[in-house]
Amino acid sequence: MSPPPFGANSAAARDIANVLHPYTDLKMHQEVGPVIITRGKGVHVWDDAGKEYIEGVAGLWCAALGFDNERLVQAAVTQMRKLPFYHAFSAKSHEPCIDLAEMLIQRAPVPMSKVFFANSGSEANDSAIKMVWYFNNALGRPAKKKLIGRNRGYHGITLAAASLTGLAANHRAFDVPLPGFFHTMTPNYYGLGEPGESEEAFATRCADELEKLILAEGPDTVAAMWAEPVMGAGGVIVPPRGYFQKIQAVLRKYDVLLVADEVICGFWRTGNYWGSQTFGIEPDILVCAKALSSSYLPISAVMVNDRVFQGLATQSHEIGTFGHGFTYSGHPVAAAVAIETLKIYDETDIGGHVRQVGAHMQKELRRRFADHPLVGEVRGVGLIAAIELVADKASKAKFPLEAGISARWTKLNEAHGVITRAVAGEMLCFSPPLIITEAEVDEMLDRIGRALDELTVQIRRERIAPVA
Ligand SMILES: Cc1ncc(COP(=O)(O)O)c(C=O)c1O
Repeated sequence: MSPPPFGANSAAARDIANVLHPYTDLKMHQEVGPVIITRGKGVHVWDDAGKEYIEGVAGLWCAALGFDNERLVQAAVTQMRKLPFYHAFSAKSHEPCIDLAEMLIQRAPVPMSKVFFANSGSEANDSAIKMVWYFNNALGRPAKKKLIGRNRGYHGITLAAASLTGLAANHRAFDVPLPGFFHTMTPNYYGLGEPGESEEAFATRCADELEKLILAEGPDTVAAMWAEPVMGAGGVIVPPRGYFQKIQAVLRKYDVLLVADEVICGFWRTGNYWGSQTFGIEPDILVCAKALSSSYLPISAVMVNDRVFQGLATQSHEIGTFGHGFTYSGHPVAAAVAIETLKIYDETDIGGHVRQVGAHMQKELRRRFADHPLVGEVRGVGLIAAIELVADKASKAKFPLEAGISARWTKLNEAHGVITRAVAGEMLCFSPPLIITEAEVDEMLDRIGRALDELTVQIRRERIAPVA
């Protein structure tokens, strides 16, 4: 590889020399280098060359209040001055931890009993996995431990969370999934529905597949199923009508817990406070993060219902402690920022805003792109959406992997001033800050459209697919 075209002491050269980047081709990075983001305002960020971008995915589906919310800054500063750190081990507590837990319980989609805090979605999911195991030990069912995720599901990258995740890039060469983790089918009607199969019939097939898996493994060995209301990193897969009702009927039949991973969908993303409300999900455990603090500081939460809590309480009493927790569980500064975030959501009626702007974004995405010869499907709900590109609209044929269409489109979007996230299978995801306006949505889609025009020219010129 040729040496990178950066000055020896430039930030890019120092990045290449020192940083091991998550989710990056580490070898290629040595040549290509980073995009260095230096500041943000509203839904915009700027790189170190002064180029402006609309953040079409709010960073990583997370900076819900945009990039310059002064109230969140002040909440952090005030708490830093008062009590910058304290923990929650051994019955110690502090007001931000108590207040935030109470606020979450009050806002939960179904009655919840207690809140456990962690620092990331992955940690929260790993914590929930351990709670499920601990719970079944408490109930005297030590064999009931297997966990079911879904193909294309995303629950993070720590050992157990990565095992629940159903994406090849998170498994290959990492020696996961661990034993005892299984994956059922993706509720992707566009991609997996059979010719002539109705959405309802497809949802029934998904539930049948789940039941078959539980029966094959043995219901007495299956503990819980994890599901995102809308699959995010898997390509914004919106479940077919009736899906969760049918899935929950199966889970109840075999006493399998349901964990709703609301890390992306929580806090109005889908147009309701929780994705669970949008899709009629009644979880036993709910995991959230990201928009909980608008991602200004790392914090995540696991909410458990009373049945689960009673199991944990009994077991911990027998042992003498609930032997799980993080130094930063309920960190006071992160909790203070989260409290302020939730207050802002309430006071500004962010939900009403998401409903209005989300409807506009969904309508405009379809109006502008659904008929494009390379677009297979436009899908989404609220302020989360995806455009899936296909090489052939009629047959839904995919592009050859080596054409690198997702990567090209992402690059073109950035050249036109929008940061987007493309996932395998040429699905371009949108999840802008919840504060985005209709005018900003229009500007974002104008830019995306110009990038798609350029991509179409490239595809035609290189004969990657026959574009009419
Ligand atoms: C649904 C879902 N769960 C869990 C995670 C993992 O969160 P983190 O990256 O904070 O560990 C993510 C991250 O994108 C997610 O989308």
